[in-house]
Amino acid sequence: RTLRIGLIPGDGIGKEVIPAGRRILEALPASLGLKFEFVDLKAGFETFEQTGAALPDETVAILKNECDGALFGAVSSPSKAVKGYSSPIVALRKKLDLYANVRPVKSVMTAANPIDMVIVRENTEDLYVKEEKTYDTPEGKVAEAIKRISQRASSRIATIAGEIALRRQKIRESGAPSIHKEPLVTITHKSNVLSQTDGLFRSTAREALANPRFKDVGVEEQIVDSMVYKLFRQPEAYDVIVAPNLYGDILSDGAAALVGSLGLVPSANVGEGFAIGEPCHGSAPDIMGQGISNPIATLRSAALMLEFLNEEAAAAKIYAAVDANLEEGKLLSPDLGGTAKTEEVVQDILRRL
Ligand code: NAI
Ligand code: MG
Repeated sequence: RTLRIGLIPGDGIGKEVIPAGRRILEALPASLGLKFEFVDLKAGFETFEQTGAALPDETVAILKNECDGALFGAVSSPSKAVKGYSSPIVALRKKLDLYANVRPVKSVMTAANPIDMVIVRENTEDLYVKEEKTYDTPEGKVAEAIKRISQRASSRIATIAGEIALRRQKIRESGAPSIHKEPLVTITHKSNVLSQTDGLFRSTAREALANPRFKDVGVEEQIVDSMVYKLFRQPEAYDVIVAPNLYGDILSDGAAALVGSLGLVPSANVGEGFAIGEPCHGSAPDIMGQGISNPIATLRSAALMLEFLNEEAAAAKIYAAVDANLEEGKLLSPDLGGTAKTEEVVQDILRRL
């Protein structure tokens, strides 16, 4: 099978880590029967300054018509609003209907309290429909925002969360070390207060996960505020977490803090038959150009993309090589307390692969 992968480095350290993602895909053993073709694509603030568009139409068209998946680095967002500029990754999620944002958060298994969870965030609605307005009243201004929750979006996000839970179980059964024994999905909401919107999310997710194909998946629910408490006190309790957009956004950044560096945490934006791997970190202007950015979030994002393209065996090889590098702990980048350069970390992981 030949996979055609779009490469969108974007800005800052995106340009340092995306080439590492390409190299790990190229280094996968031939015995897997996988070949790759790469297409270099533009997006980001630099692209906006050069062309007037942060996400050129050509990038979207090539992704849609020619690619099986993509790797996206990071983009810089100006701290003050710049006319005509808006985030290309947000636009890409919309244009390609990438309805799920998937973020695994995993520590090394030798840690004192190992963590191994995935946060599955709904990516298309909730408060992020951005329908806001401000109006004047005798007591001063009032601002309002629409929180939209649909049965369709809630059902498909819960379904993919169930599928991810089953796939993780399969990977565990193939011998990958894990702290979990049974697949478990935790539905996150605040339906005690928002009985209609979060109530619909909760009941629809329950219904989707009651499908017989998920009969081996445990289902529980948790109110989002108590979830934050438990996420920090007892993170090992979670396997797969499914949440509406806003709670998922907050929980996934919070969970990333549990493993020490943003440089370790991958994500994927997933739609029907398409996935974009994307490290969780930004363009890191404070370290760009020094050759010290941690490539691991991107390498794991490449593996995560492969998982959603049904190439689990290839993904597992990348995860294992990365875990072995971290567990040995000799060649670590400065964000993890080491002194290794990006290139040395990449070389070490490629050697293990
Ligand atoms: P950031 O994630 O770029 O950096 C936060 C801190 O983590 C910095 O100290 C940075 O050096 C460090 N860091 C991040 N990734 C690292 C890696 N791979 N290796 C080693 N250290 C790493 O977030 P920040 O500083 O808030 O934002 C910088 C720019 O990135 C802004 O323009 C922001 O808008 C953009 N950004 C873009 C995102 C995206 O494209 N999805 C996400 C977050 C921020
Ligand atoms: Mg976020």
